[in-house]
Amino acid sequence: MIRLVQFVFVALLFASLQMALLEAAPVERFSLRGLFKKKRPPPPAIQTTFKLPAAPPVWPPGKGFATGIIDLGGLQVSQVSTFNKIWTTLEGGPDNAGATFFEPTGIPQGFSMLGFYSQPNNKPLFGWVLVAKDNSPPSNASLKAPVDYKLIWSSNSLQIKQNGPGYVWLPVAPDGYKAVGHLVTTSPEKPSLDRIRCVRSDLTDQPETYSWIWGPGKNYDANGLNVYDARPSNRGTQAQGVRAGTFIVQNGGTTTPLSIACLKNTNANPISMPNLHQIEALVQAYSPVMYLHPDEQYLPSSVDWYFTNGALLYKKGEESKPVPVQPNGTNLPQDPNNDGAYWLDLPADQTNKERVKKGNLESFHAYVHVKPMLGGTFTDLALWIFYPFNGPARAKVEFLNVPLGKIGEHVGDWEHVTLRISNFNGQLYQIYFSEHSGGTWVDASQLEYQNGNKPVAYSSLHGHAMYAKSGLVLQGSSAIGIRNDTDKSNMVADLGSRFEVVSAEYLGPGVVAEPPWLNYFRQWGPKVTYNTEEEIKKAEKLLPGKLKAAFEKIVRGLPNEVFGEEGPTGPKVKRSWNGDEA
Ligand SMILES: *[C@@H]1O[C@H](CO)[C@@H](O)[C@H](O)[C@H]1NC(C)=O
Ligand SMILES: *[C@@H]1O[C@H](CO)[C@@H](O)[C@H](O)[C@H]1NC(C)=O
Ligand SMILES: *[C@@H]1O[C@H](CO)[C@@H](O)[C@H](O)[C@H]1NC(C)=O
Repeated sequence: MIRLVQFVFVALLFASLQMALLEAAPVERFSLRGLFKKKRPPPPAIQTTFKLPAAPPVWPPGKGFATGIIDLGGLQVSQVSTFNKIWTTLEGGPDNAGATFFEPTGIPQGFSMLGFYSQPNNKPLFGWVLVAKDNSPPSNASLKAPVDYKLIWSSNSLQIKQNGPGYVWLPVAPDGYKAVGHLVTTSPEKPSLDRIRCVRSDLTDQPETYSWIWGPGKNYDANGLNVYDARPSNRGTQAQGVRAGTFIVQNGGTTTPLSIACLKNTNANPISMPNLHQIEALVQAYSPVMYLHPDEQYLPSSVDWYFTNGALLYKKGEESKPVPVQPNGTNLPQDPNNDGAYWLDLPADQTNKERVKKGNLESFHAYVHVKPMLGGTFTDLALWIFYPFNGPARAKVEFLNVPLGKIGEHVGDWEHVTLRISNFNGQLYQIYFSEHSGGTWVDASQLEYQNGNKPVAYSSLHGHAMYAKSGLVLQGSSAIGIRNDTDKSNMVADLGSRFEVVSAEYLGPGVVAEPPWLNYFRQWGPKVTYNTEEEIKKAEKLLPGKLKAAFEKIVRGLPNEVFGEEGPTGPKVKRSWNGDEA
């Protein structure tokens, strides 16, 4: 109460003070508004540099992993993430926050620059470019200076917020060589030819544009000028394309040829990959802490717990005679076919079925698949998580939560998160969160951490989609959609506390013994037999009449996978086993 009186008094005092001042002085300078001036906008995120919360550990000894340099065959490369800021624009690009262009600095002795780095201003600085050293006979140099530069774009005539004009240059490569990056300057004079190197064509690969870094307008305009991250267009465990960390500039639509190339690793053996001890250290250093939703009833378990608690193997034509799955799946078919001849299911008796459906957090293991990515310059650690049961989907219709009956339910649910680690230094670069048939890559700079460098991951209620943030993700419109809820609870698992490396093909045969269940290619759950129409009608009973039509439209628009017609398959059958996640 006293506070309120004080406040009113002070406010009155200010008001009369202002009136007195108004007569004496220019309004702007002394206005009451000035005293309570609008808060200045916060400085753009890019002004800070992202660092992991804790110093990464010293990795166990090995051969080529985390040694700072990778030999691509005739060309050595190293990752540089110290930069000089060259040109900034304060608008355009994601969130209309502008973008900044950086020149790499602190390039190691004997190495040359291949291109500049750029990123949007809406995130802390977190990036790298590769620099390169020629390792080929002088008669067939892998690196050569450009013969000229082409000015491909300048902001000189643009009315945008910027720190002076910026000029973007494309190195003109000598015959048989390609540019893998751009230069940016703040004056119209051509840069010196000595500043950058082009790469022999056989050491380059076809690029594609990836995330959008910048365009001059408020919104993305595919036909205007755009700056994107460059990445190899062919990616996978066997693909040779290497990301150089540089950017692509495109002016005038997707049909114009891409301005630069990617690098290529022509060394057959991925000598830069971690050995088994290093893999274990990496999982322990960066394993996500996974939170289940407070209302979750269907928890994960180990595969062995599932098998030893009554999981059954069915054979087509002999549906009445299922057999118990042996520990580790030793009696599961091992031929690489997915033809519907076999499937797994929960125990048949009701009591055990309900018990096993709920999973068992104490037994839970994460199953790790290790694979080379981006020409062996990165390691992907896919951490697979098994849930005996995927609960029903839920819809949000305006303010109502509508359970969707059996829709979305299925037996045997495989989810995963993938850690992408730099083989130059062992740093966590990105994490992929699997969300049903899709998913999202999130930069290490955009993750939530706890206990040092452990990223937080959220498993959504019933559907177990993985997210980097808690809250509601709605699929549909803002009024009606399928809910994916995530939140913290005391049901939490550090994916590194109990894990098993189940596959690392690059280590050679016999180094990692793959459990038999991994080579079971058929379904982990039966075909679902409920009547979709019936379930929709049941759910609709809860809704006021005017919402029924809109509700039906959303439910019918869901991907087939939600209706669970086909039981889910195991990790090895997923496209990401040999390919990139997205
Ligand atoms: C340079 O080396 C590459 C890779 O070994 C080879 O394909 C190419 O023919 C060589 N070029 C010359 C001029 O020797
Ligand atoms: C299952 O496999 C694990 C290792 O993958 C092994 O330690 C365990 O003994 C196996 N269990 C059985 C019953 O074979
Ligand atoms: C939300 O959940 C549904 C059903 O479980 C799923 O199909 C959909 O992909 C999820 N949406 C997102 C954005 O993850």
